[in-house]
Amino acid sequence: MIKKISTIALATVAFIALTGCGEDKAPEVKTYKYTTVQVYEKSCIKCHGKHGEGNPKKKTPALNDRTPGEMAEDLYDVKNGGTSGQSSGTDHEVMEHNMQKLVDKGYDYDINSMAEFLSYLAKTN
Ligand code: HEC
Repeated sequence: MIKKISTIALATVAFIALTGCGEDKAPEVKTYKYTTVQVYEKSCIKCHGKHGEGNPKKKTPALNDRTPGEMAEDLYDVKNGGTSGQSSGTDHEVMEHNMQKLVDKGYDYDINSMAEFLSYLAKTN
């Protein structure tokens, strides 16, 4: 009897492992090397400032002066070269170039998460 139960248990475990517990039905979740906060602190901060206030000396704009929705649009632009169909229509050649290099270095991030974080930074001003 005990043997039978453990066989069933084993079979169940194997079944879950094989089917990945229905993983194929879940939407694909992109994983990032760093959290949004880490990305900001390791890369963006040196050009855009501690509170996303921008730095006139480096000619960087403030990132803490718009709503998360507006920020997400601008982040789409700099990440996708304004080709995403969600473009705000502004030109970000310098930042597009920077962003490509940052993403290559592993500083990739979720756009909505970054937009939320930047609006949080605005409140810490
Ligand atoms: C080497 C300096 C540098 C770093 C690092 C940097 N930026 Fe920038 N960023 C700039 C400059 C310069 C501009 C303005 C020129 C442009 O938009 O192309 C800019 C513009 C932007 C814009 C457009 C702002 C607007 O007004 O629409 C966004 C969004 C942005 N950066 C986000 C980020 C994020 C997020 C990071 C970190 C992942 C980051 N930047 C890291 C220099 C930098």
